[in-house]
Amino acid sequence: MADLSVRLAGLVLRNPFLLASGIWGESGDSLSGAWSAGAGGVITKSIGTAPRPGYPNPTVETYERWGLLNAMGLPNPGIDEYPREIEVARRAGAPVVGSVFAGDAAEFARLARRIAATGVVAVELNLSCPHAEGFGTEVGSEPEDVERIVRAVVAEVRLPVIAKITPNTSDPAGLAAAAEQGGAAAVSAINTLRALAIDVHLRRPVLSHGLGGLSGPAIKPVGLACVWQIFEAVSIPVVGIGGIRTGRDALEYVMAGARAVEIGTAVAFDGIGVFERLNRELSALLDEIGYARLEEAVGAAHTKL
Ligand SMILES: Cc1cc2nc3c(=O)[nH]c(=O)nc-3n(C[C@H](O)[C@H](O)[C@H](O)COP(=O)(O)O)c2cc1C
Repeated sequence: MADLSVRLAGLVLRNPFLLASGIWGESGDSLSGAWSAGAGGVITKSIGTAPRPGYPNPTVETYERWGLLNAMGLPNPGIDEYPREIEVARRAGAPVVGSVFAGDAAEFARLARRIAATGVVAVELNLSCPHAEGFGTEVGSEPEDVERIVRAVVAEVRLPVIAKITPNTSDPAGLAAAAEQGGAAAVSAINTLRALAIDVHLRRPVLSHGLGGLSGPAIKPVGLACVWQIFEAVSIPVVGIGGIRTGRDALEYVMAGARAVEIGTAVAFDGIGVFERLNRELSALLDEIGYARLEEAVGAAHTKL
């Protein structure tokens, strides 16, 4: 049986499958449930300074074949309330990564310090939500901003800092390089792709917010291209995200350069049992190809024959 454990920015994960931010991570019980179901680690939903209700419904549209369109509006209970959920997940033994979003470098640094104090193993910076005014992509689309934010957070916390990069840009590798320059221990890519659906009878967008973000199988090729380019641009580890639903999808990301991967929409579509299946499928595929350890496959598709 191939060894699926991976080292990521000083952490050792039992397998590469992390629960992605925003899906299933609302409570300590759901986070620990993902860990019990076989995830290698769990990422909290993105937490901000103050509670946010998110946008009114409808916030999600489901496309059976290719994924989800969502504009949740970063609903979250705020940093004063959420740490008790992290505590529940930690007590269950899960390595918890704390995801935060903020409007500027100083707010990111304050939030990161608060979440670091909860015992999380790393902090992921949401620099990439495509549909929240004043946050996400709006503060994470310019390399200078990404570098400044990461630098401010790195100065504040002693934990590995993971910068989550947007695909809604012409140069995701440039953003990743800026994150590395700022001291990030790893970069994760991608967040959702800016997208829209129209209800022709109502003559208005389907989602209350109008624009949303697309996730799921449709975005896998985009995520793979971003990871591929980022892997060639940085020397810190890359975490691949976007449309992973099978062990084979995960191995594509690993061969493109990812050291670990995050799973979002597949949890919504297939249930939390997806982690057990992903582990099984990836392990069988590595055996079939002839890898003893997953880490041997990282970036394998870049090797020129
Ligand atoms: C309903 C929903 C909520 C999300 N919320 C967050 C969030 O709070 N923070 C974040 O960084 N990403 C968030 N994401 C993006 C996911 O973490 C992930 O980057 C994206 O969905 C692509 O992966 P997937 O195709 O496996 O879903 C959200 C995605 C969805 C579908």
